[in-house]
Amino acid sequence: MHSHPEAADTLIVGALLYDGTGAPPVERDVAIRAGKIAAIGNLSNWLAEEVIEANGRALAPGFIDVHTHDDTHVIRSPQMLPKITQGVTTVIVGNCGISASPVTLKGDPPDPMNLLGERDAFSYSTFAAYVDAVNAARPAVNVGALVGHTALRNNQMDRLDRAATDAEIGAMRAQLEEALAHGALGLSSGLAYGSAFAAPTEEVMALAEPLAAAGALYTTHMRTEFDAILDAMDEAYRVGRHARVPVVISHLKCAGPSNWGRSVDVLASLDGARKMQPIGCDCYPYNRSSSTLDLKQVTGDIDITITWSEPHPEMAGKLVKEIAAEWGVTQQEAGKRLQPAGAVYHNMSEDDVRRILSHPATMVGSDGLPNDPLPHPRLWGAFPRVLGHYVRDAGLLPLEEAVRKMTGLTARRYGLTERGEVHIGYHADLVLFDPAKVRDAATFEKPQQAAEGIDAVWVNGVLSYLDGAATGERAGHFVARGAKVVDAAGVF
Ligand code: ZN
Ligand code: CU
Repeated sequence: MHSHPEAADTLIVGALLYDGTGAPPVERDVAIRAGKIAAIGNLSNWLAEEVIEANGRALAPGFIDVHTHDDTHVIRSPQMLPKITQGVTTVIVGNCGISASPVTLKGDPPDPMNLLGERDAFSYSTFAAYVDAVNAARPAVNVGALVGHTALRNNQMDRLDRAATDAEIGAMRAQLEEALAHGALGLSSGLAYGSAFAAPTEEVMALAEPLAAAGALYTTHMRTEFDAILDAMDEAYRVGRHARVPVVISHLKCAGPSNWGRSVDVLASLDGARKMQPIGCDCYPYNRSSSTLDLKQVTGDIDITITWSEPHPEMAGKLVKEIAAEWGVTQQEAGKRLQPAGAVYHNMSEDDVRRILSHPATMVGSDGLPNDPLPHPRLWGAFPRVLGHYVRDAGLLPLEEAVRKMTGLTARRYGLTERGEVHIGYHADLVLFDPAKVRDAATFEKPQQAAEGIDAVWVNGVLSYLDGAATGERAGHFVARGAKVVDAAGVF
């Protein structure tokens, strides 16, 4: 037993520690030194430069936003307020087949790459150039990155409404391999979008082949989330089996009123497949989706809110049906006149959202769209909405399980080494929050509002957000793919 005091940079005293594994919370002190977690326990004999009294509030690993489109935002707005205010300390970019790198544009970015910014936002022809740009920007959060199938198609093909040739797939693979060599987490696809819909499953299977040797994974915004969703899930499983890689189904949902209630079947399919191969999914905690305006979804059977329109910016916030009535045209015609545009689709049932969110294989991701002038509130509210609305107010799942879905589960699946859990020697990405007060403030009407009850956020040991304000410190950096952690049962 030693009696001389140990020294830390920061001591967090008297916290209720949720360690990210799903274990019930325990009262602990946590010491941070040189960016890492130095000690956990009763640390009353420790000294520190800075002492934070938690007074029984919750301390958790910093949240990992597994599904983002922050590719260019982490560089152009490195303070990352929509995320740090939620307690997010790491974002994973490059989802839904669209990534900022490696990209070479011939003209304007094709839909939906335009969600990431306009033409001038794309200046990373290699993944290595993107990594350098992220680190030079010093974002407030860490950044892990996938490579988008649609981005690679854009680079190698003269038009996107056809299958890639073998030569084009070879060129796409070479770009993917460059990215994997520089730490990319894997490959994402966005097969529902017109820019990738013509890609047969075999194209994706061939492109996914280099992932296994690299220890990377495949994520997919599936071919459809509507009537044929079970077929689309089978397609995702097939890619995973062929390439022998883990699969993550992005923003799993049952879209469209004719599919409401089908989450029972969808999750049964997922559970069945999980017995054969590593598969998981993510979702955001809302019953409305958002993306670019897709005319195929302008059928009149759901409400669609316009969030931006290049020719008609004044229509942001209005329903397509209201705009159509104002113009005296059909909704389809109104949709055409609004293009290019962004939209919020009122297309899910609350029961399905709850069932998918509470499934043990589901991670939490925001899918926020930071370039949208009227963004879906998930951009600023996804994580506190789970903690406040779904855990505390609705009692949908235990807090420790919600934290696991935001931290440990994601870090293990994506190979984010020594992140996502609170253990000695791990990176000190931490969030201190008040379970009684945490709540999302962002609404569809006023979406750009910081959450309440997120009291302090540390990124790599640096206090980055405190009592409702960014500290000005930006301690994030690019994080490369590490080894995945699979539990004793082989469960992903
Ligand atoms: Zn998507
Ligand atoms: Cu997405």
